[in-house]
Amino acid sequence: MYKWTRTVVGVTIVALWGVVLISGSATVASAADAEPAPPEGQEYIGAKKCAACHFEQFMTWKKDKHSKSFELLPKKYQEDAKCLECHSAGHGEPSGFKDIKSTPNLAGTTCEVCHGPGSKHEEVCKPFAKAKKLTDEQEKTARDSIWMVLPGNICITCHKTKAHKESETPKELRKKD
Ligand code: HEC
Ligand code: HEC
Ligand code: HEC
Ligand code: HEC
Repeated sequence: MYKWTRTVVGVTIVALWGVVLISGSATVASAADAEPAPPEGQEYIGAKKCAACHFEQFMTWKKDKHSKSFELLPKKYQEDAKCLECHSAGHGEPSGFKDIKSTPNLAGTTCEVCHGPGSKHEEVCKPFAKAKKLTDEQEKTARDSIWMVLPGNICITCHKTKAHKESETPKELRKKD
């Protein structure tokens, strides 16, 4: 009986270790595949500056509802921190949206909401701006200086539920589904 228990416990421990090892190596593999983090301490520069090098993406965004999400706010809410958290870029951060007069290029759901602030990305890419074709190394340097998309599910920070029933958007302003 005693022996049997030990064997079962032993097998269980071996099995558990197997799980730990498998999940451990899976974590290592996905970390290696993950995009390297861009340089820290970047500031918000606004959608217009991104347009200088990414005109196509800028035009797509211009036609998208995200570019107009600030305009959805009635006047009395346009300086309300509760709304600006989702209807502008980087509100509350030193280089983020302040008001429509001083930071018009950070109004709405701009590029940097999904890609993170891009001042260093701009700096790193400026020397490449006139090149017809980037070398692989230049392209890697450029790509590594900004997120393809911020990690985590950035979309649900604003789209919490369909028609954002849990957000601050006042009931009377919501579209009826
Ligand atoms: C001076 C030019 C320049 C500016 C300004 C610029 N970019 Fe880029 N960006 C590049 C280059 C070059 C690449 C790499 C090659 C490519 O994708 O065209 C790149 C790549 C990217 C990528 C792909 C990243 C990846 O992981 O592959 C994203 C996303 C991006 N830029 C977003 C932005 C955003 C957002 C802004 C504004 C905050 C911006 N860029 C401003 C030149 C620029
Ligand atoms: C609502 C979020 C969101 C906004 C706003 C946004 N993007 Fe993106 N962008 C994405 C996602 C997601 C991808 C990745 C697409 C993929 O995986 O193929 C992407 C990809 C890119 C890429 C990589 C090349 C490509 O076209 O796939 C560039 C460059 C880029 N965006 C620039 C911009 C610029 C410049 C703006 C603003 C004018 C902008 N994005 C606004 C989410 C966003
Ligand atoms: C900072 C907040 C924020 C983030 C992050 C965000 N969105 Fe949005 N999104 C909005 C707002 C606000 C609107 C409403 C614009 C409108 O109704 O005119 C919107 C509208 C949309 C629409 C249009 C809905 C329609 O009625 O046509 C789609 C699709 C969408 N978002 C997808 C995404 C995806 C996918 C992501 C992630 C890559 C994302 N959003 C990230 C705030 C955000
Ligand atoms: C957590 C993020 C978030 C906050 C905070 C937020 N909104 Fe929204 N808002 C959204 C998203 C996302 C949409 C797009 C529609 C959807 O997905 O529900 C939207 C849509 C809207 C619309 C268009 C009507 C509709 O239902 O599409 C108005 C008007 C609006 N918001 C006003 C406000 C006001 C005013 C505040 C502050 C009191 C606010 N919102 C706070 C995320 C937010």
